[in-house]
Amino acid sequence: PVTRCYNLKLITKKLAPDGYTRLVRTVNGQYPAPIIQANYGDRLLINVINELGEFSTLHWHGIFQTGTNFYDGVPGVTQCPIPNHGNFTYNFTVNQYGTFWYHSHFSGQLVDGLKGPLIIHNHKDPYLKTYDFEYVVTLSEWYHLQANDIESILLSPSYRGGDPIPSSGEISGKGQYNCAFASKNSLCNPNNGVAKYIVKKGKKYRFRIINMSGSTHYIFSIDEHPLTLIEVDGHLIKEVTIKTIPINTAQRYSVILNANKPVKNYYIRAKLTVCTPFNNQTLNYNYTLNPNVVGILKYDGAKDKTPDSKAYPLNKSEECRDLNPNILKPYKLKPPKHATHKIDLVISFKKLSTTGSLAFINNLSFVADFNYPTNQKIINKLNVNKFQNAYAYDCYTKDCKNEAVDIYIRINHTHSHPFHLHGHSFFVMYNGENQTGIEPPDPSDFNLIDPVYRDIVTVLGNSTTVIRYPIDNPGVWFMHCHMHWHSVKGMATQLIERKSIITNMSVPENLFANCAS
Ligand code: C2O
Ligand code: CU
Repeated sequence: PVTRCYNLKLITKKLAPDGYTRLVRTVNGQYPAPIIQANYGDRLLINVINELGEFSTLHWHGIFQTGTNFYDGVPGVTQCPIPNHGNFTYNFTVNQYGTFWYHSHFSGQLVDGLKGPLIIHNHKDPYLKTYDFEYVVTLSEWYHLQANDIESILLSPSYRGGDPIPSSGEISGKGQYNCAFASKNSLCNPNNGVAKYIVKKGKKYRFRIINMSGSTHYIFSIDEHPLTLIEVDGHLIKEVTIKTIPINTAQRYSVILNANKPVKNYYIRAKLTVCTPFNNQTLNYNYTLNPNVVGILKYDGAKDKTPDSKAYPLNKSEECRDLNPNILKPYKLKPPKHATHKIDLVISFKKLSTTGSLAFINNLSFVADFNYPTNQKIINKLNVNKFQNAYAYDCYTKDCKNEAVDIYIRINHTHSHPFHLHGHSFFVMYNGENQTGIEPPDPSDFNLIDPVYRDIVTVLGNSTTVIRYPIDNPGVWFMHCHMHWHSVKGMATQLIERKSIITNMSVPENLFANCAS
């Protein structure tokens, strides 16, 4: 293992990923942000220089941060935000491998472009021998308004339109906006190119697909090419071949494509869905979004021609859902046999008279304390439960052996939410598939044999999902809906895992240098 150093400069830059020029929040001037790569066991030393003109932090989505909770990148939870002209060096080892990503965890910067792939390789990956080359494919929606401006509309007391509708969708940072809808004095290129992937006939390719959206769901497919699925959210599974892949915000899948079809061009397709209800007061309702986003798979030697390939039929029932968990069998891992701890979370929206609609977890809408992050409060021995939305748990035994947490996530309204937990992946013990109502399920209905293991699960409307993980990673772990418009409304909480250990964690000397206090 080695140490890999990265310098990431956060800057705003005018770019036109879908043909329409706007100010984008970038890393080193690039959107999507540059790929960060390492091998299993490496140390990543990432120096972030913030020149955005506002606060920022970076989060390494899916990385466990064992022993380095304070480099998890959540402002007000694990660190103070990095001020403009300030810097912060993240320093952590990666004892896991697969497909991850990194993104700003400060306000809507992720939606404005601050996000990129994070790939950890391992020469012991058992699937390594089954493909020749690999590619990364990222999916995202794109808005023409700045996320800050969208937020202030969404949160204003008079707004009744739900989540905004994006202007376009993108594959690997490229989309095609219909410039006929662009305002008069804007810069818009109607012939923007799409993402292109070149393959050689007879070779096999691993595609790492990352949904880096702020808020939207996709169904991904490549015309006339079945895909062999081998990885879910950074965890290997037993291989299974499918044609269409529903993929929600922040989820990842690796597939292997066999380039054994006639030499020509084929469409790569990503059908975008906004999964929350909208009406004619919804922001961007009048703009025509083309939800059928495309890229091109080009066989080496094929002429440059519009593909005439045939799409796989889309299954409506896959929209806004996770890929069928019953086919995602962990390669090796088994869930803890029982849970020693239980946390019950009821998720709701409410409009108070002075606010726009806000999101609540057990009647608390999360607000971060940027000047005094939770881990610093714990180190200073404050009673954090008193101050904010937090759930603390510790082990009953000294070695924590066979101790595990069940979290019941219960949605009391009709639409779904992709929930993410920092610091852990989890087994989805129960997914509420056939449930009506949020009554907690009986543990006898849990899948104890081969539940999917991942770090983002779509919790369906009017139902309960139960996730389980062993208590093996002390830290303050943020948990939230990964749809940005929901987490900004407060659909978030923090789990304080083993406070006694966090208090005594040895932290780097300048860790809190950016804090005002
Ligand atoms: Cu992608 Cu709080 O994380
Ligand atoms: Cu949500």
